Amino acid sequence: MAFAMIPLSQWPCCCCFVLLMMMMMANYAESIGVNWGTQAAQDLHPTMVVQMLKDNNISKIKLFDSDHWTVKFFAGTGIEVMLGIPNDQLSRLTKYGNAKDWVKENVTSHMYDGGANIKYVAVGNEPFLKSYNGSHMKTTFPALQNVQKALNEAGLGDKIKATIPQNADVYDSGSDGPSAGDFRDDIRDLMVDIVTFLQDNKAPFLVNIYPFLSLYENPDFPVEFAFFDGGSRPVQDGNIQYTNMFDANLDTLAWSLKKSGTPNVKIIVGEIGWPTDGNINANTRLAQRFYNGFFRKMATKKGTPLHPGNIDVYLFSLTDENAKSIAPGSFERHWGIFGYDGKPKFALDFTGQWNSKMPVGAKNVQYLPPQWCALKAGINTSDDRIPPNIDYACRQSDCTSLGYGGSCNKIGTRGNISYAFNMYYQMNNQDVEACDFKGLAEIVKKNPSTPECPFPLALQSFGIRLNAGIVLSALTTFLVSIALF
Ligand SMILES: *[C@@H]1O[C@H](CO)[C@@H](O)[C@H](O)[C@H]1NC(C)=O
Ligand SMILES: *[C@@H]1O[C@H](CO)[C@@H](O)[C@H](O)[C@H]1NC(C)=O
Ligand SMILES: *[C@@H]1O[C@H](CO)[C@@H](O)[C@H](O)[C@H]1NC(C)=O
Ligand SMILES: *[C@@H]1O[C@H](CO)[C@@H](O)[C@H](O)[C@H]1NC(C)=O
Ligand SMILES: *[C@@H]1O[C@H](CO)[C@@H](O)[C@H](O)[C@H]1NC(C)=O
Repeated sequence: MAFAMIPLSQWPCCCCFVLLMMMMMANYAESIGVNWGTQAAQDLHPTMVVQMLKDNNISKIKLFDSDHWTVKFFAGTGIEVMLGIPNDQLSRLTKYGNAKDWVKENVTSHMYDGGANIKYVAVGNEPFLKSYNGSHMKTTFPALQNVQKALNEAGLGDKIKATIPQNADVYDSGSDGPSAGDFRDDIRDLMVDIVTFLQDNKAPFLVNIYPFLSLYENPDFPVEFAFFDGGSRPVQDGNIQYTNMFDANLDTLAWSLKKSGTPNVKIIVGEIGWPTDGNINANTRLAQRFYNGFFRKMATKKGTPLHPGNIDVYLFSLTDENAKSIAPGSFERHWGIFGYDGKPKFALDFTGQWNSKMPVGAKNVQYLPPQWCALKAGINTSDDRIPPNIDYACRQSDCTSLGYGGSCNKIGTRGNISYAFNMYYQMNNQDVEACDFKGLAEIVKKNPSTPECPFPLALQSFGIRLNAGIVLSALTTFLVSIALF
């Protein structure tokens, strides 16, 4: 009974220590941030998002733009905000005057007493992705410099830092482990200039790390290495053993920074997460395993071998986004810890204390009436008018749950058709004309959902933020009809 051996006089101290540990742990969730992307047919209202963050002790949010209407709902909440600048704005910001106007309109205007707590500006989003063929190579760094300069001149430079969210593909490690890492050859000089600038301005390096994508892109990737519970053959790098991809990846960046002469630039993980649908490895079971392993690791505040200590992270993502590009894969619309409607998908424990419970979902969510679009009763599923209509519905809406490994892959032919029709109908705000499909479809009041495969109901829109994709397709239809007549 080693326990009984502790002299009575030491008990209070011992309790203090335990209490202190508990307080530190409880605080952990408060240093978690989350990304909120809004590429969906309908988005949650920002006040609902603010409430969700508060209810789950999430204290930081990263946005992908700086929409004034959205940002103002974060005023007075204490929630730390990272604004985003989309890649298509970068070339404009190579002119200092434009950067100055950007800061004035999108930052300074929120800087009143009780305004928004803006802490970072993310300039571009993964601008050096190989798939962009170098399109943003000339504009990104000048835009970063101009935005920071404008922040400095507005007297905000000490509090607000500009940085660039980078994909982990800006550095390579080769097969020799993290210590062989360095920035990618084709952008190395540019990256050295950027990280030197970040160091001079005490700004962080933002990196997005995705073990899921390593697994998705490489069928030989050792599955266990993507998670945090060991079981995979460790990567030996000198004296260091890496047992998970996150540590190895982050340390490859740490080595790259070291080799660029900027070892002290702070690293922030700008995106990390696991999708739950649209691929054989994208499901709630693996997402739960990934997140809980990650939160337990974060709660120890040990960091990685080369970057010890607490690491700030932004989870990707808050909610699903049914209008995102699926160029990367069908899973791309399913990164949410919460569904499109703010419902939690699985139990987890942000504090890493093995005490998983369902996170608190969005409150006061307003749906459109409980009605769905389905294949009309009596129509034969082999009717040859069906394939082109499905094709149309799926291209204009979201059928990513129907594919192999998706949550709706086993609902049968009839279910497949109705699912596609319904997605189109809901994403078009239950417009009656969006449930016609040449007379093949009908509106039904009986919920066609199955336990594995919910048929979504649209959210009420706010009429303020119009979905760019839908506006665009409406515009195209309009132009096409003009051309025809
Ligand atoms: C948030 O933190 C408060 C105070 O530390 C705690 O009482 C509450 O249970 C936490 N909520 C969640 C969802 O973790
Ligand atoms: C402010 O941000 C919005 C949204 O990101 C953008 O459309 C607008 O052009 C920006 N304002 C200026 C003056 O650059
Ligand atoms: C990059 O180049 C490839 C091959 O030439 C092309 O298919 C792709 O559309 C290009 N991407 C961009 C963003 O320009
Ligand atoms: C549907 O059409 C196929 C092919 O034309 C036919 O073989 C089948 O019997 C039809 N099913 C029903 C329920 O009418
Ligand atoms: C439903 O559609 C998916 C995706 O196109 C396909 O993989 C699946 O085989 C279909 N199921 C049936 C029964 O037609």
